[in-house]
Amino acid sequence: MQKILVTGGAGFIGSNFVHYVVENTDMNVTVIDKLTYAGNRQNLAGLPEDRAQLVVGDIADAALMDELVSTHDTVVHYAAESHNDNSLRDPRPFLDTNIIGTYVILEACRKHDVRLHHISTDEVYGDLELDDPNRFTETTPYNPSSPYSATKAGSDLLVRAWVRSFGMRATISNCSNNYGPRQHIEKFIPRQITNILDGRRPKLYGAGLNVRDWIHSDDHSSAVLTILEKGELGETYLIGADGEKNNLHVIRLILRLMGEPEDAFDHVADRVGHDMRYAIDSTRLRSELGWAPQFGDFESGLGDTIDWYREHVGWWGREKSAVEAAYSTHSQ
Ligand code: NAD
Ligand code: TYD
Repeated sequence: MQKILVTGGAGFIGSNFVHYVVENTDMNVTVIDKLTYAGNRQNLAGLPEDRAQLVVGDIADAALMDELVSTHDTVVHYAAESHNDNSLRDPRPFLDTNIIGTYVILEACRKHDVRLHHISTDEVYGDLELDDPNRFTETTPYNPSSPYSATKAGSDLLVRAWVRSFGMRATISNCSNNYGPRQHIEKFIPRQITNILDGRRPKLYGAGLNVRDWIHSDDHSSAVLTILEKGELGETYLIGADGEKNNLHVIRLILRLMGEPEDAFDHVADRVGHDMRYAIDSTRLRSELGWAPQFGDFESGLGDTIDWYREHVGWWGREKSAVEAAYSTHSQ
């Protein structure tokens, strides 16, 4: 039976992956997570103790990572500082976790000859014009815009260098924007849902014409499992589900699904350096590895996500005022 170490497994996408793995495979999972503001022990509640364990610690702790990596077959590396707006306010934790943390993991995997799958984002490619007929592919040049995406780009390049220089058994995936349960309420979709549930108005940056390519977190998980099983070592795969929508459309849809007038939102200050459009061409993953997304209908996936936040006020309620207060100091 395979033992996998999942970094950042108490966060949004990592915890959804851990649940997905326990439900769909016979692998055993150890989560290593620092439980920052974005990590939550409750995200792993209900998992059988003999299949999933949580170790609380920092991926930049070399001694801890050396010990943990040595007893696992594979590392799946989700841990990161993940929010663009935070990276614009205070970039330092992004360097510590995304760059140094990834370096520490690479060295531990190299020493113990452990397979690594590195989780990354399409934001490393920068942005596209709204009318650009092209989408991102595995060969698009890196051109990150924010401290967040620059540190993710740096971490990807470190992985590529360890593959080339040291023969590291590693794969990389770059995925588009995820939605689903357990996403931190600082992010666009959960922020708007919880604003409405909390009696606040949704907040749209600028004109809201920026396009994101939405994918359900379970489709991200199934793609990562596919790459673990069939991916070619040393290669990069882009993960996306043809879900391009602009923010104005998404905010209006959330309002409609929650029974509110579609114009009951505020325009707030735009993000500095705001990327205009992300769009993924996932042909390689689909044609070479036979993966396909299962959540074809964004509206129904979004409806389920709204229900999850409605039913889990205890998960987000205590943090809501502080998250909104931090945004309001930047007029957002
Ligand atoms: P998240 O912020 O919800 O979770 C990150 C997790 O990492 C948290 O549990 C946090 O406690 C943990 N963590 C942070 N620093 C750590 C450290 N130094 N040591 C150990 N644990 C630490 O993030 P997410 O949205 O779930 O993103 C997970 C990964 O997926 C990231 O690598 C991100 O770049 C990538 N990604 C995210 C998206 C998206 O739409 N959210 C899209 C593509 C790729
Ligand atoms: P976000 O969830 O932060 O993801 P990312 O920056 O990685 O794409 O934001 C998604 C989009 O929503 C992005 O274009 C910024 C915009 N946005 C808003 O319009 N209002 C908000 O309150 C937030 C948090 C984001």
